[in-house]
Amino acid sequence: MTLPGDVSDAARVAQMIRVDHAGEYGAKRIYAGQIAVLGSGPKGDVLRHMQAQEQVHLDTFSALIAKRRVRPTALLPLWHVAGYALGAVTAAMGERAAMACTVAVEEAIDEHYRAQTEELGPDEAELSRTIETFRAEELEHRDIGLAHEAELTPGYRVLSAFIKAGCRVAIAVSERV
Ligand SMILES: [Fe+2]
Ligand SMILES: [Fe+2]
Repeated sequence: MTLPGDVSDAARVAQMIRVDHAGEYGAKRIYAGQIAVLGSGPKGDVLRHMQAQEQVHLDTFSALIAKRRVRPTALLPLWHVAGYALGAVTAAMGERAAMACTVAVEEAIDEHYRAQTEELGPDEAELSRTIETFRAEELEHRDIGLAHEAELTPGYRVLSAFIKAGCRVAIAVSERV
């Protein structure tokens, strides 16, 4: 966890871009795992819609990584596997569990992006606007998950708490490592 004032502003912004790039990479992989299992079923199109938006988010942060010379997280290979596994496992549990995964992840990301926009100063207004735009789309994904009966998943609360805790750990380590 980062405490206010423990890194310089530039280093802090680099951390934000690093973790957001990692998160969008992971998000894309979660949907890839879900599509591998459920892509030909009735939820296929909605999963592909969300994955397409994650691809735009990822491309944006990939460009920022290059433009600002931010070191990407060393954990991308881990998020490649873990994101896909989370998506595929929840999808194998059923359509509702896949949607519960989306709701949990997007709630964690909403919290994360909101904290970033609150922390960013006026000199980073453009980055802040980008994050705010993406946050709105993550909330749409959460709402899609809720509309597709995520909360009717057996063990919803436990599953949701488990996934959110994992997201928070992933966020904390991807800022630095
Ligand atoms: Fe995203
Ligand atoms: Fe998302």
